[in-house]
Amino acid sequence: MSRLFLAPMEGLADYVLREVLTSTGGFDGCVSEFVRVTGSVLPERVYERDTPEVLHGGRTPGGTPMVIQLLGSDPEWMALNAAQAASLSPHGLDLNFGCPAKVVNRHGGGAMLLAHPEQLNRIVSSVRAAVPAGIAVTAKMRLGVSDTSLAIDCATALAEGGAASLVVHARTRDHGYRPPAHWEWIARIDDAVDVPVTANGEVWTVADWERCRAVSGCADVMIGRGAVSDPFLALRIRGLMERTSSGEEWPAVLGLLADYLRKLQARVAARHEHGRVKMWLSYLKRTWPQAAELHAAIRRLHDSRDILDVIERAQALGGLIPMPAHQHAALGLADPATPRYLADCTVAGAVQ
Ligand SMILES: Cc1cc2nc3c(=O)[nH]c(=O)nc-3n(C[C@H](O)[C@H](O)[C@H](O)COP(=O)(O)O)c2cc1C
Repeated sequence: MSRLFLAPMEGLADYVLREVLTSTGGFDGCVSEFVRVTGSVLPERVYERDTPEVLHGGRTPGGTPMVIQLLGSDPEWMALNAAQAASLSPHGLDLNFGCPAKVVNRHGGGAMLLAHPEQLNRIVSSVRAAVPAGIAVTAKMRLGVSDTSLAIDCATALAEGGAASLVVHARTRDHGYRPPAHWEWIARIDDAVDVPVTANGEVWTVADWERCRAVSGCADVMIGRGAVSDPFLALRIRGLMERTSSGEEWPAVLGLLADYLRKLQARVAARHEHGRVKMWLSYLKRTWPQAAELHAAIRRLHDSRDILDVIERAQALGGLIPMPAHQHAALGLADPATPRYLADCTVAGAVQ
């Protein structure tokens, strides 16, 4: 059996995008954005706000199991917070040992811990001891801080500390997000530990998924940015949609965008709504050229109701985008509702 997981993506895959991306189907599980643990026990309301799946049996509204991810470097505080998070019955707890963010690394957390396998072991063991046996504790790691010399030691330390499985993002902290992902290293780690390993990094297409599995030897794969760029990727991998994307799918993407925006309007502070949609569109551009035109059309809009209006009119036009007012004026046209097909770059070129 081969499983697919939606990766944790802080600041991107919040619970609203998790809901939309898992609602299309194909994922066996998803992981929350990291919850940062410092010197206190976070109250339940933090989880109810950031991981509201805990209010619904630990699942997204579409039924996909959700695991809470914790990030921190102090074994005791991690254990206390893990016990609190576990009391909310998520589908599991995952520990982040890969975050490259400076603010996290400065305090010795995230990927910096990969320089100290013994500390990884202490953190996992104390979390494991603090959490009921029925809740799996897992870990997500990179290959190291600046090189891969401790990759196997880290993986072994995590497995021996009690991690039920490992996700390996096949890059070091210093690699950042630069391709390639070194899938061959996942195979080495998989050989070295006796817990299941999930491969992660640079899976954008069905062909990438096939190559990643072949090189890593792992059945299970976790997908991050690829799922944001192509929300149907999990379905394509499952053989439930065409293998590659096409312009015919664009109206369905508009439907997801409209759904996302309506959900944001209901749940997120108004000032964040337009930025979230623009961020998702900037990923969608990688798969659909139409997304680039929609992005251009809404770029100057800050009120999400105006953005939703553009999307809804495009839906009504079967994917055609109403020309944004400023472009329309620049062209000296009379009717601001003039639609144009998103892929038509001629006019866009004329007004730039
Ligand atoms: C915007 C963004 C936020 C991320 N936040 C997290 C996080 O909260 N926890 C984590 O373990 N990894 C995080 N990651 C790393 C991803 O989970 C994943 O390991 C990485 O993007 C490689 O997979 P991909 O090539 O499929 O995107 C983040 C990545 C991105 C792009």
